Amino acid sequence: MYRAPRGTADILPEEQAYWRYVEAKAAEACQLYGYQRLDTPLFEEAALFTRSIGEGTDIVTKEMYVFKDRSGKALALRPEGTAPVCRAYIEHGMDNLPQPVKLYYLAPAFRYERPQAGRYRQHHQFGCEAIGDADPALDAEVIHLACQFFTSLGLRGITVQLNSIGCRACRPAYVKALKEHYQERAGDICPDCKTRLEKNPLRLLDCKREECQQVADSSPRSTDYLCADCRSHFRAVTEYLQSLTLPFSLNHRLVRGLDYYTRTVFEVQPLAGGAQSALGGGGRYDDLIEQLGGKPAPAVGFAAGMDRVVLSLKKQGIAVPPLPSPGVFIAHLGNEAKTEAVKLAASLRAQGIGVVMATGDRSLKAQLRQADSLSAGYAIIIGDEEIKERKLTLRNMVSGEQQRLSAAELREALQRAA
Ligand code: HAM
Repeated sequence: MYRAPRGTADILPEEQAYWRYVEAKAAEACQLYGYQRLDTPLFEEAALFTRSIGEGTDIVTKEMYVFKDRSGKALALRPEGTAPVCRAYIEHGMDNLPQPVKLYYLAPAFRYERPQAGRYRQHHQFGCEAIGDADPALDAEVIHLACQFFTSLGLRGITVQLNSIGCRACRPAYVKALKEHYQERAGDICPDCKTRLEKNPLRLLDCKREECQQVADSSPRSTDYLCADCRSHFRAVTEYLQSLTLPFSLNHRLVRGLDYYTRTVFEVQPLAGGAQSALGGGGRYDDLIEQLGGKPAPAVGFAAGMDRVVLSLKKQGIAVPPLPSPGVFIAHLGNEAKTEAVKLAASLRAQGIGVVMATGDRSLKAQLRQADSLSAGYAIIIGDEEIKERKLTLRNMVSGEQQRLSAAELREALQRAA
């Protein structure tokens, strides 16, 4: 028996209302903040991700789905959405448009991770990217958009964590101090952190192992090493957030798992969040467009994990609007009635009325049971008597009330009910 690959899941019909709700709220938030949708391919040249996310990151070294196509080109399933958006910005000359260019996406992403609750090998992101502007007001606006999205869904207890990791001018001094701090305590840290110390020192701060907590907590803070420009940028971001009365907490251990970030980084945690629970995260990436071959264009963005959002909606017992059910079910008895049913279904659909027609030769009772389970508002019944009288029976599935009507009367009644 085949099963969905480990770490992936089918989104079954009964789950769809949650997903449509989240997508609608995402589109609504983007409309409010002036973002336009961009869809990029599911796969890209693998090098696009290696260059942007960073060669030493977990995503690139352990998690990316890389494959060769028949011409031998190395491609990768998209592990995240920022790099493809930047690639599209450069490819389509969007630097000629008024800046910033604000784009959003709803797209699956693929990472070969160890699956657990809220962590999958195929997950879905809602992401926003504002490219071409270094204004700290834009950082605050992106964080505000993220919070507006989560709260518009009805989620409670959302918290924002914020940090600044500086720029290429000031970060080296910070990384040096961080490495020295860890080198002095090399005997106290886990084997993974010993590797991180060599390969990706910022990620030391992310370690969840018990033995590393004290070393990480007592480590130097990136905000103490910011150059004058980064310091005033960060101060401005926090002031804008305060003027929006958007609560946030500074977390000097927040570094994020992708190398392209500069200055502002942030994460949104749900109520009672655990280690792997971020609902979303983002930050600035002022050098990425240039690194990918475009003209320098500072940028900021964020992405939310939609799978985790759906889990949180369920956990918090938030009801979502049900999806529309078919308005009408057609039940029939006998061959002649079935032909009438086929024609009637087509003519009602042509008028924009959703119809499910019974198939097979089940009893009227069984057919009406099906109408019930589909939550159809009305059932139309066609039997011998209806054929003889050239009429149809319309049954209100909620009240059980029935009327015998001509085709024209039926159309009118359904239009009135719509
Ligand atoms: P990220 O933090 O790697 O950032 O992913 C964004 C969000 O996607 C996470 O906060 C989480 O909710 C969700 N997510 C990530 N991996 C998984 C997984 N394996 N299973 C379920 N959910 C997951 C980025 O990808 C950046 N591109 C965000 C960004 C946009 N930064 C600037 N612009």
